Amino acid sequence: MSNSSCLAIVLAAGLGTRMRSTLPKVMHEIGGLPLVGHVLNSVVGAGADKVAVVVGPEMPKLEEHILSHVPHASCHVQVDRLGTAHAVKAAETAYRDTSDHVLVLCGDAPLITAETLHRLRKRLSGGADVVVLGFEAANPFGYGRLLENDGELVAIREEKDASDDERSVNLCNSGIMAFTGKVLPELIAEIRNDNAKGEYYLTDAVEVARSKGMRVVSELADEKEVQGINNRAQLASCEAVFQQAQRETFMENGVTLQAPETVYFSYDTEIGPDVVVEPNVVFGPGVKVDGAARIRAFSHLEKAHVSSDAMVGPYSRLRPGAEIGEGAHVGNFVEIKNAQVEAGAKVNHLSYIGDARIGEKSNIGAGTITCNYDGYLKHHTDIGAGSFVGSNSVLVAPLKLGDGAFVAAGSVVTADVPENALAISRSQQVNKEGRATLMRKKLSAAKALRKG
Ligand code: UD1
Ligand code: CA
Repeated sequence: MSNSSCLAIVLAAGLGTRMRSTLPKVMHEIGGLPLVGHVLNSVVGAGADKVAVVVGPEMPKLEEHILSHVPHASCHVQVDRLGTAHAVKAAETAYRDTSDHVLVLCGDAPLITAETLHRLRKRLSGGADVVVLGFEAANPFGYGRLLENDGELVAIREEKDASDDERSVNLCNSGIMAFTGKVLPELIAEIRNDNAKGEYYLTDAVEVARSKGMRVVSELADEKEVQGINNRAQLASCEAVFQQAQRETFMENGVTLQAPETVYFSYDTEIGPDVVVEPNVVFGPGVKVDGAARIRAFSHLEKAHVSSDAMVGPYSRLRPGAEIGEGAHVGNFVEIKNAQVEAGAKVNHLSYIGDARIGEKSNIGAGTITCNYDGYLKHHTDIGAGSFVGSNSVLVAPLKLGDGAFVAAGSVVTADVPENALAISRSQQVNKEGRATLMRKKLSAAKALRKG
């Protein structure tokens, strides 16, 4: 199979009216990735060397997403939606140059795995002409039913066309089918629209193929893996299945999740072994956490890298470009954006660090802020290794603190600080002996006067 060519046709022209959205249905996200992106990942994982996506007219964002995700994909516009076989026909230019295998999938069923698609391809390699992926439905209403005779698949009957007997069948069509490339064009050409909906049903390919003496078989999948999305509730239930699968995978790979059901991952989260993730943590897209780091409760991370043995949180926010070095600490109510916190450095309390570098083993005091933005441009702050920035300091960028620099607490630093220098930038303190006692007397007399 490894040297057989494979075309995947993904049907994604649906508007998804029940989503009540201005987005094409397949652009809604699961784990931070559009539904169609999940399907594209699986077909590429299953070895599809050609990918064709059938889209609706005027869906520029969808086409853009498809091409950025799989640059060699082609998009085919289906103008009138006349059924699933008609949708496949829209990709005729893709299947005309025959591939050995053709997989047809729906863009709104995102949880299909590459392994299952491999199984379909294996059946084709083993001599089947058409393979239908079926599942046992808890509630079959609305699905096409797989009709078998002596264990052989003879037809797929859509809900609207089914007899009462046929409706009692629980074995359903997932919507995913596989064909050998040489039979697909003639099957599509012979499908008619003589059914209750007046549509060209791809599912009729089963009966057409049987009438031509072709080998038609079915494979089974778990309902969870083939569930499709037509409304927001189904979107949420797919998200839940996806999150649960991610949690299980990470735990299998040696990650401790103290309260797995409260941790949310993205499709591309990478976490090394012996990382501990405390409750209520959200991983947005683009996060990598290296081995033995600890992500403490209520932290939110996106497009960030946490090196091994580092500690983040509780209540930390890592935004795009946050790079946390080995053994570094980022603590409560600290926001880091586009900044490197180098090995062993600490930013533990109530800080904003943006467009900056904090050198190795530096200590940034509570409430320190880098002023990176003047309303027009962003500027960089560079803090050398082994520096100490006192609490509540304001570092006005562009700014450079040399290695070993020391900033006195409460300073507003606007000029560079040389290596090992001390910067103090605040008004001088004056102590007036006994003045507090005098003030108290004066104020209590004033209060007594007002009461009297
Ligand atoms: C389809 C199957 C049904 C199966 C079910 C699984 C057919 C005739 N029926 O029914 O057997 O149980 O999926 O969910 O295939 N699409 C287009 N253009 C069209 C029509 C559909 O691109 O003209 C796309 C849709 O966007 C969707 C997919 O094809 O991604 C399936 O179409 P849909 O109308 O949802 O089919 P179902 O009635 O659910
Ligand atoms: Ca559907």
